[in-house]
Amino acid sequence: MVIGSGGREHALAWKLAKSTEAKRIFCAPGNAGTESIAENIQIAANDLPELARFAKENRIDLTVIGPDDPLALGIVDLFEAEGLRVFGPSKSAARLEASKIFAKEIMSAEGIPTAAARTFSSSDAALRYCDDIGMPAVIKADGLALGKGVIIAQDQETAHQTIHAMMNEQVFGDAGKRIVIEERLNGSECSVHALLSGKSFRMLGTARDHKRAFDGDCGPNTGGMGAVSPADNWNADREKEFTVRIMRPLLVALAKRGTEFRGLLFPGLIVTETGLHVLEFNCRFGDPETQVILPRIRTDLLPLLNATIDGRLQDLDIQLDQRVSVTVVLASAGYPGKYETGKPISGLQDAENMADVHIFHAGTKRQNGEIVSAGGRVLAVTALADTVNRARAQAYAAVDRIHFEGRQFRRDIALPVQRE
Ligand code: AMP
Ligand code: GLY
Repeated sequence: MVIGSGGREHALAWKLAKSTEAKRIFCAPGNAGTESIAENIQIAANDLPELARFAKENRIDLTVIGPDDPLALGIVDLFEAEGLRVFGPSKSAARLEASKIFAKEIMSAEGIPTAAARTFSSSDAALRYCDDIGMPAVIKADGLALGKGVIIAQDQETAHQTIHAMMNEQVFGDAGKRIVIEERLNGSECSVHALLSGKSFRMLGTARDHKRAFDGDCGPNTGGMGAVSPADNWNADREKEFTVRIMRPLLVALAKRGTEFRGLLFPGLIVTETGLHVLEFNCRFGDPETQVILPRIRTDLLPLLNATIDGRLQDLDIQLDQRVSVTVVLASAGYPGKYETGKPISGLQDAENMADVHIFHAGTKRQNGEIVSAGGRVLAVTALADTVNRARAQAYAAVDRIHFEGRQFRRDIALPVQRE
């Protein structure tokens, strides 16, 4: 059973459906894409007791958690207490994502490279601190804020407004009760997907995503408008640096605190003049990173997830497709702000029939026999090819076959980033 309803969950269900070990797949609540390969169950991703009840009654062999919320709420602890097998970190380990302050404390204790930061639980102290430091400064809500909890303030006025909004007006609820203010790092970003099990980890793949809504990295931050895998700023030296300076100390730090992490770790990284730095830790598969990375994994995913749960990562042979993968997200007009739904989508089959193209549904549903939009991010269109240019061309050719009213997407996915 896959928990969640986005493109990430469709990609997970799609990959798991290929497994020789998977007999029946459920998705809760799923979307119009998962419906064609799995049985959608109408239970919300954060309705923990209902999910556990369903898993028990239907003797689900394995539950895979997609989104961050149920992890932070402790779904893994609940399932394990009920004797149910589940893929994802415990509530305690998921704090690496659910509390930026916790992540910062671990990194600073172990000397893991990250932006220099201070944490605040009083807005007065945060405001005074901002007056003393130079801008830009990066202001982050401590808790989960739907990917909107990070503001890069270019001037004091924005910094003050942000602190007020987060701490006094509580626009992110309790997530903004405490905040982190950190230095702005400059460099190119990338991210890693790795399986972690206690003291060992295995790389699944790297990616670079495009978070801003519009071409040229303009407009508001979104959940992600597209991605490319592997990341173009990654190489064997980087991987070694990542292992030695980030992963090993992190595993030591978690062990010291008695916090065992079993699941998928997705660190967001930046390559600065002084090397790799951690921007954030995510404790789950990324969206749209999953849609760009999973099609490059040749190995059956189900045994990989089981080996992670059982602490057998060292036995694994993970085969990667050497081709490049590009994912373009199609969103509703207005996303990430207000948008309309219920727009009929055409051309899906036509696009899916193209060679080396995969269409993952995000915000879609079936209505009177047709597939209509049902969310901000509607579809993720992935293509694989020998070069990034060919993969881009194929992905955009597929995009051109798909239509719905107000369809919005970036034209520059996988091109080098041009900043400021
Ligand atoms: P996060 O949710 O922490 O990954 O932040 C979202 C985005 O904000 C990142 O992908 C970066 O583009 C940016 N960001 C976060 N922290 C910093 C930082 N210290 N310096 C520069 N950019 C940052
Ligand atoms: N694409 C960023 C995330 O899943 O958090």
